[in-house]
Amino acid sequence: MKNLISQLLAEAVDTLKGQGVLPADLSPSIQVENARDKAHGDFASNLAMTLAKPAGMKPRDLAEKLVAAMPAHEAVAEVNIAGPGFINIFQDGSWLARQLESALADDHLGVPRAHPAQRVVIDYSSPNLAKEMHVGHLRSSIIGDAVARVLEFLGHEVIRQNHVGDWGTQFGMLLAYLEENPVAAESELGDLENFYRQAKKRFDEDAAFADRARERVVQLQAGDPACLELWHRFNDISLGHCQAVYDRLGVSLRRDDVRGESAYNDQLADIVRQLEATGLLTESEGARCVFLDQFSNSEGKPLPVIVQKAGGGYLYATTDLAAMRYRHQQLHADRVLYFVDQRQALHFQQVFAVARKAGFVPESMELEHMGF
Ligand code: ARG
Repeated sequence: MKNLISQLLAEAVDTLKGQGVLPADLSPSIQVENARDKAHGDFASNLAMTLAKPAGMKPRDLAEKLVAAMPAHEAVAEVNIAGPGFINIFQDGSWLARQLESALADDHLGVPRAHPAQRVVIDYSSPNLAKEMHVGHLRSSIIGDAVARVLEFLGHEVIRQNHVGDWGTQFGMLLAYLEENPVAAESELGDLENFYRQAKKRFDEDAAFADRARERVVQLQAGDPACLELWHRFNDISLGHCQAVYDRLGVSLRRDDVRGESAYNDQLADIVRQLEATGLLTESEGARCVFLDQFSNSEGKPLPVIVQKAGGGYLYATTDLAAMRYRHQQLHADRVLYFVDQRQALHFQQVFAVARKAGFVPESMELEHMGF
């Protein structure tokens, strides 16, 4: 409605220019506000006040000319002038009702479909399977799901990606604990937080357990079948808990949308190789890093994106680089939205920049961290 009124006022300005009332070179920015007091109208504009000087007229006189020059429109019931020269506009209630009725009669609510439609990957929820979801994951789930549905409604193709944290050294500890307590596992895993705490306690207090935990990490990374089976079982139970939360909240995520960090394991070495091939890699204290000019710490020292630790392990950033490449090469995304806590803003700025620089994604693919 504001746009429509601005348009009508712009036409009035053009007419007055044609009549020589207003200077021809004028291109005013037209403000239309919601009226504060509905008794005086639904919308108001101070246009006559802002143009009085260039017109060399009193605001009220100019307001009269503007109102007279405004084309009639069925959406507008009445226009009058108040005070020193405010233009007050009343909208036509029955016109408004007709708009709503026709929207209601349309199965797409009168909302135009997006052209061109895009393929949008939405990375959201993404909890860490070793622990209970926290409020940040709930926010991500809810906001991300709302946006996924809106974009689908607009006609875009949405691909949901639940980038769960299902890999890392903590899993060694959890697997060793699961192994020790096979029967209790089902019920204890109902309280992941407690399960994690118990495992951590064993890890801290019992050297033999800690050794076993470290061994499980190595075995897991080496693809040991027994270890993988245990890991699958753990994730399965944990993902079941997540699904219960999604179902309860009406979040549309399904098991099929899960593509966790572990899905990129076999691509991480290649990511590092590619970074090396493009000359982006630097070794620093044994770790392999990418330094980009635009990132420095508060003392102005360059800030690295570490992609491989001195011991050979890969990091969160490495997995995100692999995920971006996958989303480009396999999913053919036009746009990727990440619904993640604002505290990860720097991480995303960095990995986006590295991914572009390394050519993992083209300039045309939009990458946006929707921080909250
Ligand atoms: N699992 C991460 C966390 O809980 C969030 C992952 C977000 N997505 C991503 N592609 N990094 O902090």
